[in-house]
Amino acid sequence: ACRVGNALIAVFNVDGTFYATSDICTHVHAHLSDGYIEDDIVECPLHQGRFHIPTGKAISAPVTEDVRTFPVKVEGSSVLVQV
Ligand code: FES
Repeated sequence: ACRVGNALIAVFNVDGTFYATSDICTHVHAHLSDGYIEDDIVECPLHQGRFHIPTGKAISAPVTEDVRTFPVKVEGSSVLVQV
């Protein structure tokens, strides 16, 4: 996770493609960067709600609200996130 201004951003590497989402679960306050990742799904460490990383879609209870996503660009060895 990294902080950009007041926003906490989680950066995921899914099979070599980088994605960025808000790090904070839309259910309660948990850090998705501490979650469990399987393929392109991240599971929240607190109540195991799941999100689709590329789109931020909430896909399983108890999360119902999508998590925000941010465009990512890779330049050389840097991963740039547009917030
Ligand atoms: Fe993430 Fe509850 S805080 S599922």
